Amino acid sequence: MLTAEANERLTRVGPGTPMGDLMRRYWIPVRPLVELKEEEVMPIRILGEDLVLFITKKGDLGLIGERCPHRMTLMKYGFPDEDGLRCCYHGWMFAPDGQCIDTPLESPTNKLKDQVKIGSYPVQEMGGLVWTYMGPQPVPLLPPWDLFVMPNAIRQIGISHLACNWLQCHENTGDPAHSVYLHGYNFKYILEKKGELEERTKDRQMSTLHSRIDMGRGIESLYAHETQYGMEKGINYSKALGADKDRQSRHSTVIFPFFTQTGGPGQVRQEFQIRVPIDDTNTYHIAYGCYMGLGGVEAGEQESVPYYDIPIYDEDGSPIWDFVLAQDSHAWVGQGDIMDRTVEHLGRTDLPIVFMRRQFEEQMLIVEDGGDPKNVFRDSSSMPDLIHGGIWDESNSSVTGAGGAVSSFRSAYHKGYGIDDADRYGPAMPEIIDLMQRIDDHLTADEV
Ligand code: FES
Ligand SMILES: [Fe+2]
Repeated sequence: MLTAEANERLTRVGPGTPMGDLMRRYWIPVRPLVELKEEEVMPIRILGEDLVLFITKKGDLGLIGERCPHRMTLMKYGFPDEDGLRCCYHGWMFAPDGQCIDTPLESPTNKLKDQVKIGSYPVQEMGGLVWTYMGPQPVPLLPPWDLFVMPNAIRQIGISHLACNWLQCHENTGDPAHSVYLHGYNFKYILEKKGELEERTKDRQMSTLHSRIDMGRGIESLYAHETQYGMEKGINYSKALGADKDRQSRHSTVIFPFFTQTGGPGQVRQEFQIRVPIDDTNTYHIAYGCYMGLGGVEAGEQESVPYYDIPIYDEDGSPIWDFVLAQDSHAWVGQGDIMDRTVEHLGRTDLPIVFMRRQFEEQMLIVEDGGDPKNVFRDSSSMPDLIHGGIWDESNSSVTGAGGAVSSFRSAYHKGYGIDDADRYGPAMPEIIDLMQRIDDHLTADEV
């Protein structure tokens, strides 16, 4: 349980708030590059600020304030030109850095444009996403987290707009035990009601819900500790309490401040979930899927990284519940627009959540004291080409679920197992299924 004040500090992200100031120390992914290329001009809202993202005809990316400084109409109605975005009203043009570079209806000798500028934020592309930095100078480096830059991979970007505060989504990462019910018993109930239980759980060993139900057997305690780039957490199992053996099961790792990473070395499917605050009560949730060519199998070239919307309501407006991320999303939105943590009742399984909140509080204090928080990188000479921000242990691949079942079925979409994940809506699914098939064939051939 938190005080109302502590809850406010952790959740609110507008300019001048403690969490908003912390978030503004990081590069933030705002839209898929492919979507921006299609739309060319996009109004976006990030950390409570209304902005306009655009791409010039030349291909430069810009992010500027929402209003034209001439007579204040909305720049989202503008259109791209060679070197900038032109306002729809009188054609003033603004460069990606916000500088006015043309006032076409004014006299050619008029110097007005030199004095006019819209606020802007720097923008970069990485891994098929457009990123921005909304904080104070100097601008830090954009860290090359592994899934965005690893070679030999197919990628796809799943987007959800969720009507709740970002921290609800992110605290889910500190809550590995929820899988037993939300993705286990609850999933079972949903499929039973739809009359699809038998069909979708034929292979018990490979079914999402059975592997998650099995995760509930023999829980002794939860653990959490800090890592170089974030935190690690998981479940300690005890044979005496009904587990198959005494063991520790590590779950998705957290890259500070808002990434969670699943997968690991030797696994086809890797994923970041990124909880980008739109404002205090809305979250732009990115499920960034990365599927690796393994064992010498080539993943194949992708010209660009495709994106897709992840639906959590059907055409009639009824909630969709039959895949994992939809279950999570409904649970998060169900906690309220900003969850009231003054009336919660935490149990032993919430230990990693408490750890996460402390970590955020610690890092907010560092920013308040004028320091650089975790994962702010400034020295380009020591910046590697790739950073494993989650746990990337070649000897102990991250495995969620009893017996590694979850990672197994996420390598077997070619056998029909992709249906329980949001991935099923992804435009790259045919290539991913083909990749998994080829890896399977390759491994089978090796065994012969
Ligand atoms: S209001 Fe934008 S150019 Fe006049
Ligand atoms: Fe979940």
